[in-house]
Formats: sequence, C-alpha cells, structure tokens
Amino acid sequence: MDFDQTKILLKEKLGSPYFETDRCILFCGDSLTLQKKIDRPLFDAIITSPPYNIGKEYEEIVSLDKYIDWSTEWLADSCELLRERGCLLLNLGYTNVADMGRAIPLSYLLWDKVPLFLNQEIVWNYSAGVACRKYLSPRNEKILWYVKDKTHYTFNLDEIRDPNVKYPNSKRHGKSRVNQLGKNPSDVWQIAKVTTGKNRASKERTTHPCQFPLELVNRLLRGFTNKNEIVLDPFVGSGTTIEACITNDRYCVGFEIMPSYCEIIKNRIENLVLQKPVGNKEEE
Ligand SMILES: C[S@@+](CC[C@H](N)C(=O)[O-])C[C@H]1O[C@@H](n2cnc3c(N)ncnc32)[C@H](O)[C@@H]1O
Repeated sequence: MDFDQTKILLKEKLGSPYFETDRCILFCGDSLTLQKKIDRPLFDAIITSPPYNIGKEYEEIVSLDKYIDWSTEWLADSCELLRERGCLLLNLGYTNVADMGRAIPLSYLLWDKVPLFLNQEIVWNYSAGVACRKYLSPRNEKILWYVKDKTHYTFNLDEIRDPNVKYPNSKRHGKSRVNQLGKNPSDVWQIAKVTTGKNRASKERTTHPCQFPLELVNRLLRGFTNKNEIVLDPFVGSGTTIEACITNDRYCVGFEIMPSYCEIIKNRIENLVLQKPVGNKEEE
C-alpha cells in the first residue's frame, strides 16, 4: 500500500488530520486511542521518544506501576502495527523511583515489555547538559533497536559509516584495510543535543521542551529504514521525525496530544517545504 492509500485509510478511521503534505500526516490526540482504531500492519518502522514520567508540561506524574502498565500497553499495540521486517527505535531517558534510586534508566524497566527482538542498544552521548555536584553529570540516553524478524531486518551500514578514520591509508598485502566510506559508527553515537539560550540555541530549535536533534533521527532513518518506507512516531512532539523523514525521502505519520505542539509542527513543516529557516523563538 502506498502513502496516498495509507493516508486515505487513516482518515477513514481517525477523521480529519491536523495537517498533511504529500510526505506526512499528523493527527492530534492520544496515541493509544488513535492507533487502536487503525488496521494493522501498516508501518515499516516506529521511531519515538515517549513521555518519561518526570513531570514535563505535557505529562502528569503517575505511580511507577501505572507508568509501566501504560508503556507496556502502547508498546504491545505499536508492535502489531509493524510490517514483517519492521523495526522499533525507542529513545528512553530516566525516571526517579521514590526511595529506590535517582534517574533510573527507563530501559532497565521497559526493555522486556516490547514483544520484539532487541537487536541492540545504542548509547546517545551528548556533551552539554545539567552540571551536577553530588553525582556525575548525566550525558547519555539510550535508543533500543528492536526488530520484528531477528534474521531479516534492515541495516544499511554503508549509509551511516563514520568517515572519521584514524589511519585511512592503512594497508595489508598492498591492499587498503579501510572501507573508503568509513568505519562502523559503533553503538555509541556522539550527537549534540538541541540547545536553548539566546546566543547558543541550535538552528533547528523550536519552543518544544524536549526536541530530538535532527542528526540523531537522520542516522536512525538512514541506517534502519529504506527510502519511501512509512514511519510512525506516536509521540511526535516538535515534529523532528516528520522533518527527518521528509528530508530523507521517507513518509511519516505522527500523533501528538498537545494542540500547541501540533501547531509548532505545522509551522515547522510548512517552513521546511518553503525552505525557510525554523527560526529561533527562544527568548532566554
Ligand atoms: C519526549 S517528547 C517527544 C519529542 C520529540 N521526539 C521531538 O523531537 O520533538 C514526548 C511527546 O509526547 C507527547 N505526548 C504525551 N502523551 C501523549 C499521548 N498520550 N499521546 C500522544 N502524544 C503524547 C507530548 O506532548 C510530547 O510532545
């Protein structure tokens, strides 16, 4: 089924979208309610960063049990939406667990709640962040790479090779030992966070409080999906997954519960299509 047909099907089941172009469609609402209404399987990949239960403006803190139950439910349902060779790229941060631990990696709590094969954990390492005094300053989040079929899955290594090779001229028996496209980028990815602040805000920054860097999603898309595949982001936030899909020739379906963020996405994508800079609305 191509993307035009997918959009027709989605509109039949979910009603009017908030916004659409020939490469994306955005629905405003609760992701689980929306996705439960749609036919399956429908998507080649899911790339997302859900709420972490840490009291951001878009979430209410609930008990850990309740959070795990909710996560288990949406993850199980999402996996049914994936096609045969589909994958799930799940970005997870940390949550506090009262009287038990500070900043517990959500991957410890959720990794086995996903009914797919966990192919690898990617560590996303960034240099800037909160400076702590009583413990080490956190500088990473995880991306769990799940696949539906543990043998047949998309891995486009050449698309994501790291050209930064230490000994590019290294030879053995007169033959180059180095892949000319670069080395395997490893499971630790150093990618800067989207920064805020008057003079140091990232170019791509919107007013959304937890925006993914485009570079991170670009690499996930190139490495683990193919051109013209359809990607779902059920917690699409500021629309980074949508923008990255458009610029990498993929299609994207997004769900977002907050109308104000849907408006950010609409402006962001309209500007992208018109080749206008996102603009830096940060007032700090
Ligand atoms: C961590 S942010 C995602 C940020 C996104 N990756 C980006 O680059 O902007 C999580 C998003 O999920 C949205 N959200 C929270 N609960 C939701 C729900 N039940 N259904 C749909 N969206 C939800 C929030 O409003 C927030 O924008």
